[in-house]
Amino acid sequence: MKYTEYEDAPPTSVLSGSYSHPVSRQWQLGKRLTKSTFIYPLFVSDIPDEETTIDSLPEMKRRGVNTLIPYVKGLVEKGLTAVILFGVPLAPGAKDAEGTSADDAKGPVIQAVKLLKKNFPSLFVMCDVCLCEYTDHGHCGVLLEDGSINRPRSIQRIAAVAANYAKAGCDCVAPSDMIDGRVGAIKHALIEAEVAHKCMVMSYSAKFAGPFYGPFREAAGSAPAFGDRRCYQLPSTGRGLARRAMKRDINEGTDAIIVKPSIFFGDIVADAAEIARDLPIAVYQVSGEYAMLHAAAEKNVFDLKQIAFEACNSSLRAGASLIISYFTPRFLDWLDEN
Ligand code: PBG
Repeated sequence: MKYTEYEDAPPTSVLSGSYSHPVSRQWQLGKRLTKSTFIYPLFVSDIPDEETTIDSLPEMKRRGVNTLIPYVKGLVEKGLTAVILFGVPLAPGAKDAEGTSADDAKGPVIQAVKLLKKNFPSLFVMCDVCLCEYTDHGHCGVLLEDGSINRPRSIQRIAAVAANYAKAGCDCVAPSDMIDGRVGAIKHALIEAEVAHKCMVMSYSAKFAGPFYGPFREAAGSAPAFGDRRCYQLPSTGRGLARRAMKRDINEGTDAIIVKPSIFFGDIVADAAEIARDLPIAVYQVSGEYAMLHAAAEKNVFDLKQIAFEACNSSLRAGASLIISYFTPRFLDWLDEN
């Protein structure tokens, strides 16, 4: 009697023959985490000597330009390859309707870029480009009178900020506002400023609105003063919208794309791997995810190192090759232990 219609096919041996020798076991493992997989977010304030813990973001501090450099030095010595900067203006009056302080030549981001590149020439320095940290209303663009986004004004301003960061010497600008047209405008502004050949654009293409950004907003002081970001960030059921936003950014000339958040969004990363298969794909393991894993580890739900590997491996498996993560300093140690 035939058991299956494939009776004549060779017997399968998925987990024995192909998995028994240590070498062939290695061959089956797929992509693995390395130190250069990680991009580390840094919050840089306009108080030069600041070093403040952030209650909702364990092990993370907001620093000024003077305390930043010695801190980063220790990480570069351990193998840190890339950082992404977020500016935090704390001085009274630093925020206005147009986010003027975002690209202030004496502001924290431009100062930090210059100092980091001077002290660590081979460190890859990225700048998050957004207005929400710098606007008094806390939204990511310039607003119309009715409180909605003024698109032409917003993308003009965002492109100018990106060009000024690139002129200061950063290696990559990462627009996180999600507003239509900003990638193309940034590309043109970089060409105009004659820095397009040395600054890449990595756009947040599939960025979902949701509850995972709370600790970041505490760290960056960027909670919207009214309303929310639902008109320019994606709804969590919007898989089709995410696919369209990725195609939009590719058409506008982005060099790499970011999916954000990471946990719960593996399907979107897999879509990115298909739609943007010729570009590097990064995931942002955002503040709320990081804080959640820490909180659960603290309650002995699981071990922090094991769960961090599990979370990051899932992003690689889904198709990402880069991970923006607050766990980066931990991974620089953990990857040496393994
Ligand atoms: C916006 C921006 C945010 C994050 C990165 N860029 C906040 C937001 O969209 O509200 C969040 C990152 C995190 O939560 O770790 N400029």
